[in-house]
Amino acid sequence: MQSGRTDPGAFREAMTRFAAAVNVVTTDGASGRRGVTVTSACSVSDDPATLLVCLNLSSPDNAWFEENGVFAVNLLSAGDEALARAFAGEDKLSQPERFARGEWSKGETGAPLLDTALVSFDCRLIDARVIATHKVLIGEVAGLRASDAGSGLIYLGRGFRTLGGGE
Ligand SMILES: Cc1cc2nc3c(=O)[nH]c(=O)nc-3n(C[C@H](O)[C@H](O)[C@H](O)COP(=O)(O)O)c2cc1C
Repeated sequence: MQSGRTDPGAFREAMTRFAAAVNVVTTDGASGRRGVTVTSACSVSDDPATLLVCLNLSSPDNAWFEENGVFAVNLLSAGDEALARAFAGEDKLSQPERFARGEWSKGETGAPLLDTALVSFDCRLIDARVIATHKVLIGEVAGLRASDAGSGLIYLGRGFRTLGGGE
């Protein structure tokens, strides 16, 4: 058992055991349209419906999420691994090229909702704070759109896996 300040590498290694749902978090507005693959999204409260997502400060364009004041969390289905890789920066595609890999609709807030997502949470930003290397964005859910339940895309042990289904 280690004590004291935890080594970041040991922490990252430990987190590879954490099975996490894969999402593309999107925004649009005055600062521009952006999407990023994340596993950090999670529920905070159900009344009012509230969730959070953590974005790395090392990408300056992640500031667009806070500047636009809106974001959508799109929970990926098993068929969208290629989209997850594109929005994680594989192949260094431009943001317009990444968005061209999927079909999108505009949510009530203006944030892009992925048509093939298992569910999309359309959120207005209600709080944002820096914690170490990340900005934690807290959003109140203004609308949600769910598709038929299907297999989900999971990240575990540094690899994409699928887990299904909700039927
Ligand atoms: C499975 C997976 C989960 C990720 N989760 C997060 C996350 O929660 N927050 C975050 O800021 N970046 C996360 N990333 C990294 C971003 O998707 C992306 O790779 C990084 O922002 C660099 O993208 P860029 O090439 O567009 O700058 C994750 C990447 C992968 C592959």
